[in-house]
Amino acid sequence: MKSKISNQILKGESHNGIYQRAVEVLTGGVSRNTIFRKPHPYYVASANGSYITDIEGKKRLDFANNMASLIHGHSHPAIVKSVTEQLKKGSAFTMATEAEVTFAELLTSRSPGFEKIRFINSGTEAVMTMIKAARAYTGKSMIAKAEGAYHGTYDYAEISQTSNPSNWGDIDKPNAIPVVQSTPQRILDDVVIYPFNDIERTIHLLDQNADQIACVLIDPVPHRIGLFPATNEFVEAIYNWTRRNNALLAFDEVVTYRVNYAGMQDSYSVKPDLTAMAKIIGGGFAIGALAGKSEIMQVLDPRETFLRHPHSGTFSANPISTTAGRVTMEMFDEQAVSNLNALTMNARKQIEEVIKIADIPACTTGAGSMFRIHFQKNAPNTYRDAYQNKETKAVIDELIDYLFLKEDIIVINTMTCMFATSLTQKTVDRLSEALLRELKLMKPILDSLAS
Ligand SMILES: Cc1ncc(COP(=O)(O)O)c(C=O)c1O
Repeated sequence: MKSKISNQILKGESHNGIYQRAVEVLTGGVSRNTIFRKPHPYYVASANGSYITDIEGKKRLDFANNMASLIHGHSHPAIVKSVTEQLKKGSAFTMATEAEVTFAELLTSRSPGFEKIRFINSGTEAVMTMIKAARAYTGKSMIAKAEGAYHGTYDYAEISQTSNPSNWGDIDKPNAIPVVQSTPQRILDDVVIYPFNDIERTIHLLDQNADQIACVLIDPVPHRIGLFPATNEFVEAIYNWTRRNNALLAFDEVVTYRVNYAGMQDSYSVKPDLTAMAKIIGGGFAIGALAGKSEIMQVLDPRETFLRHPHSGTFSANPISTTAGRVTMEMFDEQAVSNLNALTMNARKQIEEVIKIADIPACTTGAGSMFRIHFQKNAPNTYRDAYQNKETKAVIDELIDYLFLKEDIIVINTMTCMFATSLTQKTVDRLSEALLRELKLMKPILDSLAS
């Protein structure tokens, strides 16, 4: 099923040359499995705005934006300028900088629930620090997370991220499935897996461990589950449960902070106690952040006589990431958020039109400046609904290869687009025209998936 077009369309000799060196020194030839493709990854020479040029001079239109982390596209001049200025003054010190304070002021003024903030280096670290802070504050150790949700690679947060029909078990009590071989059983035992957006089952599962759960982790628009939003009723029900049971509501907004000016949390009638962020708030540089109520964040406070959660990090709040982040988020103001969301909504409508014209069983889900295409007639409402079996996955891989190699378009490997302000209506038209061509060609196989 895997496409052979990579060999037919582009020999990719220069890429393969580097890859042959890479496999000698990097496991699998890559540092990050996400960018691996068969027969070899493609190597970047440079990027600007919404275009990436590879080392063979091929220019591609980018709708992946480094897995949702570049909200203004590549090499935005204002970010390049401010980072270059900061670089000349130094990149990391065993001292504080004003850059972190100014950036913290900006983010805390943006979201009402962010009374205090701490910067770290990645989304994984942000989620991990959030879970540890919840434990330190509540004195309890278990967490609850949604089946299928991706929260990075902290042991507890990654459980059941890859559950599949052979192991996920009864929906009334989904199994806690390890991602990494030999994950200790006691970690699995400390994670309650709940079905996203399913109030009744989730509350029942939480109740069974009420005296041990420190926090309920929610990504409000979880990409891997299917990129559809948590309902207000669901978030409210979980919030109310946490109030009754001395637990915290912990939002993973690593991806979804982009949805509104104040994050996806602005869409709900209740607010999380803690929020993990990363990706766009680093302006293209490594960053993570944990924000929340002062009283809870106090567990990290070095002035406390009993420090409940000692927290540091060699590159935490380095002035390169915080400067890039501040400039980026200043430019991503209310108007910019609203314009980008409107452009993305328009793209989604155009693609739904393309799906109709191509007459294939497909639909879209999404929120704000992101959407995902599913190859099923009706939009999924659960992880199990959206789950792609091997055959579907192989067809999607083939479509992604066609887009990358024939149409010079980059999308995320789940058929997801994460928009950036550098995109325009013209680039959206190019995406929908390309999709129309490729989906028409693939109609027989796409039809067979649905039958
Ligand atoms: C929702 C979510 N949480 C956490 C992470 C982990 O972030 P990072 O890759 O910066 O560690 C990701 C990464 O894709 C994510 O999508």
